[in-house]
Formats: sequence, C-alpha cells, structure tokens
Amino acid sequence: MRPTLDFLQSQCLLCVFVGVCVPTVVGSLPHTLPWPVSCPVRCVCQIKPWFSPDSVYHEAPTVDCNDLLLTTLPLPIPTNTHTLRLQSNLLSELDTEVLHGLPNLTDLDLSQNRFSRVRPITQGSSLPSLLSLHLDENHLSHLPESSFSSLPALQELFLSHNNLHSIAPGAFIGLDSLLRLHINNNRLATINPWWFRALPSLEVLMLGGNPVEALPEKGFLALKSLRSLVLGGMGLRGLAEEALDGLDGLESLSFYDNLLTKVPTQALRRVPGLKFLDLNKNRIKLIETGDFRDMVHLKELGLNNMDDLVSIEEAALENLPELTKLEITNNPRLSYIHPKAFLQLSRLESLMLNSNSLSALHQHIMVSLPSLQEVSLHSNPLRCDCLFHWAALQKDTQTDTEAARMVRFIQPQATLCSEPPELRARRVREVSSREMSAFCLPIIPASSLPSYVGVREGGKLVLHCRGLADPQPEMYWVTPSGLRLSPAPRLATKGLRAPAPCPRLTPTEGLNHKSSSSHARNDTACNPSKHYRLLPEGTLEINKVTPSEAGLYTCVAENVLGADTRSVTVGVHSRKKNRKGGKSANLKGFPLFRVDAGLEVREVEQHYAVLSWLSRRNLPSTRISWQAIYSNAHTPIYTTRILAGTQSFNLTHLQAQTFYRVCLHLGTVHDVKHANRRLRESGNPQCASFKTKDIPEPKPSLQLSPELTSTAVTLLLLTLILLLLAGQSWDTLPKEGAQEIHNTLLLEIKSPKALIINHNTQESNGHQAKQSEKLLLHEDC
Ligand SMILES: *[C@@H]1O[C@H](CO)[C@@H](O)[C@H](O)[C@H]1NC(C)=O
Ligand SMILES: *[C@@H]1O[C@H](CO)[C@@H](O)[C@H](O)[C@H]1NC(C)=O
Ligand SMILES: *[C@@H]1O[C@H](CO)[C@@H](O)[C@H](O)[C@H]1NC(C)=O
Repeated sequence: MRPTLDFLQSQCLLCVFVGVCVPTVVGSLPHTLPWPVSCPVRCVCQIKPWFSPDSVYHEAPTVDCNDLLLTTLPLPIPTNTHTLRLQSNLLSELDTEVLHGLPNLTDLDLSQNRFSRVRPITQGSSLPSLLSLHLDENHLSHLPESSFSSLPALQELFLSHNNLHSIAPGAFIGLDSLLRLHINNNRLATINPWWFRALPSLEVLMLGGNPVEALPEKGFLALKSLRSLVLGGMGLRGLAEEALDGLDGLESLSFYDNLLTKVPTQALRRVPGLKFLDLNKNRIKLIETGDFRDMVHLKELGLNNMDDLVSIEEAALENLPELTKLEITNNPRLSYIHPKAFLQLSRLESLMLNSNSLSALHQHIMVSLPSLQEVSLHSNPLRCDCLFHWAALQKDTQTDTEAARMVRFIQPQATLCSEPPELRARRVREVSSREMSAFCLPIIPASSLPSYVGVREGGKLVLHCRGLADPQPEMYWVTPSGLRLSPAPRLATKGLRAPAPCPRLTPTEGLNHKSSSSHARNDTACNPSKHYRLLPEGTLEINKVTPSEAGLYTCVAENVLGADTRSVTVGVHSRKKNRKGGKSANLKGFPLFRVDAGLEVREVEQHYAVLSWLSRRNLPSTRISWQAIYSNAHTPIYTTRILAGTQSFNLTHLQAQTFYRVCLHLGTVHDVKHANRRLRESGNPQCASFKTKDIPEPKPSLQLSPELTSTAVTLLLLTLILLLLAGQSWDTLPKEGAQEIHNTLLLEIKSPKALIINHNTQESNGHQAKQSEKLLLHEDC
C-alpha cells in the first residue's frame, strides 16, 4: 500500500544498525504533479505524495533544494509550501522569519547540514503545522530545555547521527504529539528517564548506536504508547531485571549488535506484549533452558550472527503459542540443538537454521513442531545418516512417521550431505532412507570447542562440548591427570554437580570400556564439594582454577557404537604476573606447549611452527635455538639470529610428528640496558616445547559405514583414545579429513555473505512488520 514509506522506514532502521544513512530518494513516485509557482533558483517545485507519520496521505506542494551548497535559505519560498527539502547543504543558521511565513509547512528536512545548535531553528514564533523535522547528520552536541516547544504538532523528529552527548531532562517538553523519535548514533552515554516523560504518545524510539553500557532501571516507564524500541549497537552487556518495565504496549524490540552474553530473560518477561524480538549479533554462548518461556505473544525471534553461540539447550524455547518464525542462522559455532530444545511451539511454521555448524536436526525436533512448513538447513556440515531419517525419501518405506509429512526445504539444491563419505555432496532430499544407516556414532563437531582456552588463576573455566548421535551418547571429560569426570545421573535434577563416581580411565580398563565405570574411585577431585561441575549435555565447569589444573582436557562422546573425542588445551594465567604486566601472561603447567614468560607457540603444522614473544626490546644479540627431542637420542641444536624489533619467527623445515624444544635468548645481561627487569633477573632463555603435526593418514573411518562392523570401529576408536590419554600428545585425533570438510564448508558459508540483517523490528501504524526482510547492507549503505 505504501511502498515508499516502508522503504524509508527500513532505511532508517538500517541506519540504526549500520551507522550510515543513505540519502532517501523520493523523487521517483508516480503521482508527481507540476506546481506552477515561482520557484527559488535551482530548486524544484512540484506536488508530491506525502504520508504523515500517522499515515495520512497528502498531495504536498514540495520545494526541493537538496544538494545545492546553500548557506542561506533560497528565496522566494512559495507561501503554501508543505514540504521543504534542504538536505545536504551548508546551512548553520536559518532566517526563521522566512519559515514563519509558511503557515502550512509540514515537513522540513535540514539533514546533512552544519547546524551545531537547535535554537536558531526552533526559536521565535511557532511552526504550528510542522509534523516532521529532519535534523539528522548535523553537528548538534547538546539539546537544552524545551528545545522543541515551538513545534506543538510535531510527530516525527530525526536527530540521529549528530554529536549529541547531553540532552537536558526537559529537552522534549511540549512534544505531546510526537510519535517517532530518532536519537540513534549519537554520543549519549546514559539514558535519562526524564526525557521520556514529555513524550506520552511516542510509538517508535530509536536509541541505537549510542555508547550506553547499561540501561537504567525502569527508564522507559513513561513510554506507555511505545510499540517499537531499537537498542542496536549500544555496547549493552546485560539488562537489569526492571530495565524494560512499563513498556506495556511494546511489540518490537531489537538488541542487534550488543555485548549481551545471556538472553535477558528476566527483563523480557516484563514485556508481555512482545511480538518481534531481535537478539542478533550478541555474545550469547548458550540459549539455556527457560530462556524463552511463556512469551505468549511472540511471533518472530531472531538469533542470528552470533560468533559465540554453541548450543541451544533442552527446553530453551518453551510454550510460545504464537511463534511462527524462528531464525537461528549464521552462527559459525552452533553445532548442537538439543532434541527437546523446542517445546510447545504449536504454530511454528518457518524454521531457519542455515549457515551454522549443525550436523543434523534431530527427528524429535521435527515431531515437536506440528505446524512446521519450511526449514532451511543449507550451508551446514550435514550428516546424512541415522539422524536424518525424517528428511529422507520415504517412498521405499511403509512407516510414514508424522515427521515425514512434507516440510519444504529452502534451497534444497544447496542442502547437501557432507557425511558420511559415500553420501558426500548428495542433496539431502534425494538420499533415500535405505541408504542411511540406522544408528550412528557420536561426532563432536570441531567448531564446538576451541583448541585453546586461557583462564585466569582463580577464575572459572567453562568448556562446552556437545555430541549428537543415535543412540544418544554419554558425554564425559578426561582431565590432564587422567581423571574421568561424568555428569550426574540423568534422573538427578538438571545441573546438579557430579556426585560420586569418577573412575580413572586406565589403559586396561579402557580396552574393555564396559567395566570401566564399575571402578569407582574415592578421589577428592570428584567430590562435588570440590569445584567440578558437569552437565549432562557435556558442559564442564571448574571454579577457582589453579595453575596445576592447566593442561589438555578431552571431551568424549560415547554410545554403544563407539566414541568421538575432542581436546582443548587450557592455560592458566598466573594472577600475580597478570596484575603486573597486563599482557605478559604466564602460562603454567602446560603439557604440550610449555610457555615461559612471553614466548608462545602460535601455530604448529607438520613442517613449521610460528613462535611469538612479547618483548619488543630484543637486542641485536637475540637468537632462537631449537632442537628435536627424541627419547633415545641427542640431536643437534640449531640457532638463528633474530632481527631487532621483531616479535615472531616462523621455524621451518621441521620434521613432522616430532617433539621440539625451542628457546628465545634475549641477549646477555650487560647488553640489556632497557630490557624487562624480570627477564634480566632470570637471565635464562625462555623456552617452549611443542610437537609438530602428524602426516595425515588416509582418512580413518569415524563414520559407521555398512561394511565395517561396529565392534571394529569401537576398537579402533578406543585405541585412539588410549593413545591420547597415554601420551596426551595428540591434540586432535586423526580427523583431519572431517575437520577439513568443516573448514571448507565454513569458508563457503562466509564468502558470499555480506552482513545480513534480520529486519523484523519494523512495525508501524497498523501495518504489519515485514517478515524479516533481509538486506545486504554492504551494498545498500
Ligand atoms: C494552507 O492550507 C489550507 C488548507 O489546505 C489552505 O486553505 C490555505 O490557503 C493554505 N495557506 C496558504 C498560505 O497557502
Ligand atoms: C572417601 O573419602 C572420604 C573423605 O575424603 C571418607 O570419609 C570416606 O570414607 C571415603 N570413602 C571410601 C569409600 O573410601
Ligand atoms: C611459515 O612457513 C611455512 C613454510 O615456509 C609457510 O607455509 C607458512 O605459511 C609460514 N607461516 C607464517 C605464519 O608465516
């Protein structure tokens, strides 16, 4: 009905998110009529369609003087001018006499000029018919009390992209009719609840792009009419429970591009009418049980573009009876959605899960979504085996489960299997059920765990490990000392600490793993009163980490068919050193990369290793020495000089699969005039050891292929685990093949995508918000 207005609004929303506004083009409307008046030189005078902020249509006499380098108002302006466009000029003052001679002036566009104060525009007698004032992209830094009281009819005020850092508490007094306020992209560091007391009619508030780290409690209490609130790009780290209190009419809320680490569940519960919620681009790691529960009006939810998101937990979304569209896309580490993550979503029609690291979508999820019509799963490293039976061609089976009803795949030609090898690159929808195995081995996706995690001494270590398989795998962790940590039994209340048995997995036990769990050991480390906590889904938490707990932690996902493992090296940064030197973290107790002082092994491959160190003051005599270490032989030590000022070195021509010790010699004491005192005192070289990577073997069968019996696979895997535990030197099992697939897939996902905005916060004046209109920002702005 009103395409242009929609376009304008989406532009403005984009501006909030992106920080750059596109000059809006209104010239191409069909109903422009000639307007025979004497028009100011170089301006264009026409009659154009115009919609008021409350959606009333006008045929508006319009004077367009955009982009003319004007420093004063052009004359003569026809007296019945309705819209005056002065965008993109050099105005810093206005002859208000001229404006007051325009009794029907309704829309005044002064954006992209040089106004540094607002008084010269609004002082003097009033502009009683002005509905819309554009002052965006000027140089305003402060709004004094009653800045706009001469504009009693104003419905829409644009102040975005200025330098506003202070706004008087009563700055908006007199704006009783204001419907939309855009103060996004300024320099406001705090939100003053007093501003909003003068705005009883406000429906849309754009506050994004201001460096506000915390919202005040009950800050929006006065905004009883507010329907849409955009808080994108503000640096919000969390939300007070009462931050959104009083927003009884709020339907659309955007937290796009903030620093939230958790879903602000408590605050959201107090906005009962919410229909559209955008949490895209935050630092949320987990969508946890109960995060979205009983939000009975929620229609659309966006959880896209989150680099840290790893898992959607059991009952994360529960009882959302109106939810029709759920978008969880472009989350590069998201590899796990609990089979019971979505409960009582009776109206969910559209489930967008593309461009994540998901290996499968459990059949249970499909069964629990009775209204589902379409699903998008492309650009995921999909496993077309047991977990995908619901998606397979059903023509060869008699048993039509409910999940087999036709759910439309979005982009089916791009929804490809990446596992198992014999189905690779096949379209998921074209694989028949017969080709899929009935059971599957656990796989812990590479993206779910980083290879290294640093934690401060005394801090809390949290490692999330997830594995999907059928039958459901058991998850446990093995500590650097070989201790096996298992979660509390499932019957226990969720999240309880691991209570009793923590058997040590010794090599002999491991071979016959069925018996291993019977060897319970009374180890204080397993005692819940110590500080381990293991959740059934596979999250390991260690409170008050000590340096002795650094080392290689291995997560194991195991079912009757076999197991998968993934290891992460944990470094504990000593507290003392950290306080002193900030960056000079000392990593202790590393089994694999021993790091003293500042020397670090950044990257290890088969034939090279990249070293780096913190000291910038290495002197001309600085050198690096390295030596291959074999248990039974002494090998020559090689040495090389290091250029002064460098902080990294690429050690090449190394042997694969070999331990090396490397030392950085910063020069002798007498030439170290300025060197770091600590280093000089120690006088010792800084050394590190590492092991080069193995030469990749022909791809080992981690997947259950029909030819291999499950026992053979189990044995193979268990042997690998034992090797890992015995030597603690296999940072990753030989799963290079699988990893490579992930990597290439991720690349493919990333390359063609510009930043995608899930634009579902737009909602205005009775016309429905558009269904997540996706826009490629890089091109548009
Ligand atoms: C302002 O608009 C009204 C109603 O459209 C009209 O009657 C009046 O003549 C206009 N005033 C001027 C100065 O053109
Ligand atoms: C386990 O250790 C606790 C104290 O550390 C002790 O009281 C208890 O008797 C031990 N249990 C067994 C089975 O050894
Ligand atoms: C180090 O050297 C190797 C072999 O020359 C090369 O392939 C690798 O890209 C180098 N790495 C860095 C970070 O320079």
